[in-house]
Amino acid sequence: MHEVDLENKIGTVDQLSHNIWPPSSVNYKYWPKNPLDYREVNEEYTRQIKMLSEKIMEWLSKGLGLQGEAVKEVMSEYMMLVNYYPPCPHPDLIQGLDPHTDVNGFTLVLPNEVPGLQVFKDDHWIDLKHIPSAIIVIIGDQILRLSNGRYKNVLHKTTVDKERTRMSWPVLVRPTYDTVVGPFPELTSQDDPPKFKPIAYKDYIYHKFSKLPIVHLDS
Ligand code: OGA
Ligand code: NI
Repeated sequence: MHEVDLENKIGTVDQLSHNIWPPSSVNYKYWPKNPLDYREVNEEYTRQIKMLSEKIMEWLSKGLGLQGEAVKEVMSEYMMLVNYYPPCPHPDLIQGLDPHTDVNGFTLVLPNEVPGLQVFKDDHWIDLKHIPSAIIVIIGDQILRLSNGRYKNVLHKTTVDKERTRMSWPVLVRPTYDTVVGPFPELTSQDDPPKFKPIAYKDYIYHKFSKLPIVHLDS
């Protein structure tokens, strides 16, 4: 499945992706050769983003009343995405990314100064303001499932700009493909039954992207 780690063209976005952690999952063949310091800068960013994300996972775990390591034990891989949205003369007709929830655990998005990310809340699409050097945290499907629905995955999409190029550098924190993800047993009881069926992460991805009814898995 690492073969997705190549260049894909999806609608009006060019995407490049490759793993950044753990080292055993990293294949430099998928990393750009230019600019020359790409690898060095990326490795430093990986160190920083890992620290931040481990903090967030500790808070997410404690927020569920679990020990601080609980979420981290499930989410052990990190993938770098580079999204490139060229300017588009018809931003009203063209989307960047279609509405989706992230299939992974959670995502840390670093965007450039061109706004374009929208999240769905209270039946409305809300534009996210650009806050310099802020990182956007998006809860994805696997945190929803682990938490038995207490942490909500967020529907989001992107728009393109008329004149300016939008770029974003999301890091996807996720389980390994073979990790079976279901609600933490500590969170379920007879009064609070599991809302999701445990399933290997790779099988979840397969069902989601082949549009097989996930309803069957999740009820
Ligand atoms: C994604 C995504 C947001 C952005 O890559 O899944 O939602 O701002 N990206 O590009
Ligand atoms: Ni997304």
